[in-house]
Amino acid sequence: GKVAVLLGGRSAEREVSLMSGNGVLAALIAKGVDGHAFDPASRDLSELKREGFDRCFIALHGRFGEDGTVQGALELMGIPYTGPGVMSSSVAMDKLMTKRIWIAEGLATPAWRQVKSPAETRAAFAELGSPMIVKPVREGSTIGLTKVTALEQCDAAYSLASGQDPMVMCEQFIAGDEVTIPVLGTGVEARALPVIRIVAPDGNYDYQNKYFTDDTKYLVPCGLPEGEEERIQALVLKAFLTLDCRGWARADVMIDGKTRKPYLLEINTSPGMTGHSLVPMSARAAGLSYEDLCLTLLASASL
Ligand code: DAL
Ligand code: MG
Repeated sequence: GKVAVLLGGRSAEREVSLMSGNGVLAALIAKGVDGHAFDPASRDLSELKREGFDRCFIALHGRFGEDGTVQGALELMGIPYTGPGVMSSSVAMDKLMTKRIWIAEGLATPAWRQVKSPAETRAAFAELGSPMIVKPVREGSTIGLTKVTALEQCDAAYSLASGQDPMVMCEQFIAGDEVTIPVLGTGVEARALPVIRIVAPDGNYDYQNKYFTDDTKYLVPCGLPEGEEERIQALVLKAFLTLDCRGWARADVMIDGKTRKPYLLEINTSPGMTGHSLVPMSARAAGLSYEDLCLTLLASASL
């Protein structure tokens, strides 16, 4: 049947989604799938039903795509889609809700404060210490994020983040190793893929260093101390299942350089599939090509 690759959309990550979606679409077509691009920014989702699409590959990132809204519309129309369902998607889009659930389940995540003004951001800096991350609660790709190392930076950091989302959070920065780990599958079949260690120029894995420069190094095999990769994979699998995710997702984790304790930052329920993205890189290390990864994900589409 006809498959719609949902791409573009209305979030700040629109450009990233176009790169992801076009990559996925080309891979599916190369594998003989009757795939078509569909951008919900310019077309009404109800057209999917009228035009006889019988499955959707969601390659949208951020709000109105990764946050349960599109998933809800597809549920109502009865069109199976890739990735986590409505509840998991909407919880995972909200980094504060995600943290509350993980903490309740005993899964470590850095200390945080929600802040509603520059003054509260300064107060959070006094409590959480330096460096501190200030970021929008419901955004991706490090858009609107600042690493604050001095009190004077708090006001600008707050206004940058609140320009993206009225909900802003501060988070303790964990100095050490930055890693990312995909999970593929559902329920008892879900598996964490190889850990990727990210070494960005000056330690800044920002928008530019994520998608455009070739200066960021990705290590897979990750080269972490003996036993650490397995422990992190187990942690991430729990984080995935705790939010009742299905199909796939990718968790971002910081490992404290001194204590070697891993801290969950967030889980992305519609991870990037661009030429620079990391789920494809980890899958390849596990023996799954980009094209086969796309087919595997499509086959997991469900309601
Ligand atoms: N939010 C971007 C797309 C990612 O996590 O890959
Ligand atoms: Mg993200």
